[in-house]
Amino acid sequence: MLSQNELKQQVAKAAVEYIQPFLGSGVVVGVGTGSTADLFIDHLAGFKDQFMAAAASSERSAQRLAGLGIPVLDLNEVQGMPVYVDGADEINARLQMIKGGGGALTREKIVASVAERFICIADESKVVERLGKFAIPLEVIPMAVNAVARKMRTLGGDPVLREGFITDNGNPILDVAGFSLDDAAQMEAIMNNVPGVVTCGLFAIAPASVALIATQQGLRTMK
Ligand code: 5RP
Repeated sequence: MLSQNELKQQVAKAAVEYIQPFLGSGVVVGVGTGSTADLFIDHLAGFKDQFMAAAASSERSAQRLAGLGIPVLDLNEVQGMPVYVDGADEINARLQMIKGGGGALTREKIVASVAERFICIADESKVVERLGKFAIPLEVIPMAVNAVARKMRTLGGDPVLREGFITDNGNPILDVAGFSLDDAAQMEAIMNNVPGVVTCGLFAIAPASVALIATQQGLRTMK
């Protein structure tokens, strides 16, 4: 039986193979954040002569990329990118996700929005029938923490401030548990509309384009 880390290794390697046809001399690769994304970065470094640069969704990933000799561009310097590769905390059959366990949700959503395709990479433990068992992270403007928390309670959620954590953008995160989502896109729209919410960790309105899932039986591709 493969460990979760071995499954993550497997899918990170598969992701680099998957994006090969999209690489080229002027290409920028969008890179996500988290332990699976870290492993992807490590494999990507072996192919750094096949693309121009990366755009990162966190300071953590930017540092890892730069440390391995991959140039990192500010997103303002990037016109577009063929692929964005990132992990997820949960993903359903419609390729809608909960993200932000690592707190990088805002930059993840921004970088992903510039890419033509979102390639989700995950081990099989992340695949769920219904999103919501994993608490939904909300990046919030500091003065709005209590107001947003009250609003989440009226929606039936149970918000908890992520202790000792501030995002790369200088904001706190509320993790909102208690939802089992039939319509994740509708909930994303509702959460996006709450004053003080910078970004909601539901990636349902714009789901992944494809998911590469590492399982004990081998690699599974979900489209
Ligand atoms: C970070 C994220 C990550 O993609 C998500 O938390 C999955 O992380 P990991 O690959 O470590 O399981 O959204 O903000």
